[in-house]
Amino acid sequence: MRNYSREELKQFNDCIKGLRSHNAAQEMKNYIQHGKTNTYDHCMSVAKASMRLDKFLNSKSDKESLLKGAFLHDLYLYDWHDKNSHKKLHGYHHADSAIRNAKKHFGLSEKEEDIIFSHMWPLNLPRIPKRREAWIVCMADKYVSIKETLNRR
Ligand SMILES: [Fe+2]
Ligand SMILES: [Fe+2]
Repeated sequence: MRNYSREELKQFNDCIKGLRSHNAAQEMKNYIQHGKTNTYDHCMSVAKASMRLDKFLNSKSDKESLLKGAFLHDLYLYDWHDKNSHKKLHGYHHADSAIRNAKKHFGLSEKEEDIIFSHMWPLNLPRIPKRREAWIVCMADKYVSIKETLNRR
């Protein structure tokens, strides 16, 4: 990661280290998110993009919750391309599965739950992000998702 101080990189690694090695996080490598990108790499990219956006905006957000929410935002743990793997419309409901799994394996603060809950806004229109951390992850997710979708071509 370029243009980061040693302190910022340490903060990123400290926040992500305990999460990335967990079996539930590693399981995300089994599922394709967009194009050729698996869900684990997607979540890592969203965490990095959230950190960049936070720095750009000088938003003084809670970095630990920002990065944890960003990294776990798509921890739904199924192949969304397989219609038999989930019951409802993926776009509208996968955040609820991610919250359930993240609570079970990692525990979530109210703020971290809020980040995951609202990350699909505006597709999921009533779930408007309420906190700066949730806005940052919501925007970072859009940016990364568009990039990954275009990269498949
Ligand atoms: Fe998502
Ligand atoms: Fe995502």
